[in-house]
Amino acid sequence: MIHLGIIGTNWITDQFVQAAHETKRYQLVAVYSRKLATAQRFGEKYGDIEYATDLDTFFGLAHMDTVYIASPNSLHFEQAKQGILAGKNVIVEKPAFSTPEEMAEIIELANQQQVLFFEAARNIHEASFSTVAEFLPTRGAILGANFSYMKYSSRYDAVLAGEEPNIFSPHFSGGALADLGVYPIYAAVAWFGKPQDVHYFARKLPTGVDGIGTAVLRYADFDVTIQTGKIADSELRSEIYFEDGTLDLNAVNAIEEAAFYERKTKQTQVLAVSALENPMIEEAQDFADIIENKNDPQQGQRYEEWVELARSVNETVALMRKQAGIVFDADKK
Ligand SMILES: NC(=O)c1ccc[n+]([C@@H]2O[C@H](COP(=O)([O-])OP(=O)(O)OC[C@H]3O[C@@H](n4cnc5c(N)ncnc54)[C@H](OP(=O)(O)O)[C@@H]3O)[C@@H](O)[C@H]2O)c1
Repeated sequence: MIHLGIIGTNWITDQFVQAAHETKRYQLVAVYSRKLATAQRFGEKYGDIEYATDLDTFFGLAHMDTVYIASPNSLHFEQAKQGILAGKNVIVEKPAFSTPEEMAEIIELANQQQVLFFEAARNIHEASFSTVAEFLPTRGAILGANFSYMKYSSRYDAVLAGEEPNIFSPHFSGGALADLGVYPIYAAVAWFGKPQDVHYFARKLPTGVDGIGTAVLRYADFDVTIQTGKIADSELRSEIYFEDGTLDLNAVNAIEEAAFYERKTKQTQVLAVSALENPMIEEAQDFADIIENKNDPQQGQRYEEWVELARSVNETVALMRKQAGIVFDADKK
């Protein structure tokens, strides 16, 4: 059984704990919050839990072996570092780290301490995501793709009122690209590799981060266009263009519809995909596979692939952000 502790008491942590419990391979044992009452309110529904309001006490809990970190983005690095130094595996919400330097330091430290670091990029762990990956090489050459993930954030109302909520703040490494754009970028990098060049055309908010933007990821023989944003809603589907037809997807996260239209035959091939009600179960299963079989070379290889994917996505996002002139406090360290 994996003994889990959590940092961050918003709804996403409940969703992860429920997913983890559903796998029957994790047990929540500890909750950290800045306030004891918040920790207790979060933990009481899960039974016998230890509570901590300071991180030294929390990471000192000997029976907790793995920590899920879902705090504001800019806090992930110090919290993950402290957890790793205390000998804990860390599952860090996307975007795991603000800069390539932070990412590199954590990967190295986790290896040194012989613990595991996972970026919780849920879409790449979906069975449907792998189904698409396996389909790609079965068709003709790829000519391009268009991915979209844009959703109005209720927290944008506060920005309009002159406030700076964490997710729209450069102090907390927020913005559309960091929050939602990272999913289509994960899809592009996982399916096609790291792009040779990137361009990000962002519309910045008064807070300094991007509210909406369009990216072009350039590969040797094709381009991938990505639309992302947190100040508007989009129902746009995603597509991958091949020499011999087009793969239509409802999205590149929570994929529940995938169909290939073949130009010559005018036939449509429907791929067998579905999305689970709790979209975090598949990643929780994947992380447990590695944590429970740390010395299995096959699991070790999967782990290395995810770590290198996380590094490539982080480097790609950092480059895009730099181009768009979005500066986080984390850049100034
Ligand atoms: N995978 C997904 O589908 C998904 C969905 C949503 C969010 N996320 C990720 O989860 C993370 C958290 O996002 P969120 O929207 O929940 O963030 P948030 O509401 O800004 O903060 C999350 C938690 O961090 C603590 N916190 C808030 N402000 C803080 C501050 N100034 N200093 C220290 N702690 C603070 C709070 O817990 P306490 O009050 O208990 O200390 C809060 O519940 C982000 O990395 C985000 O990208 C992932």
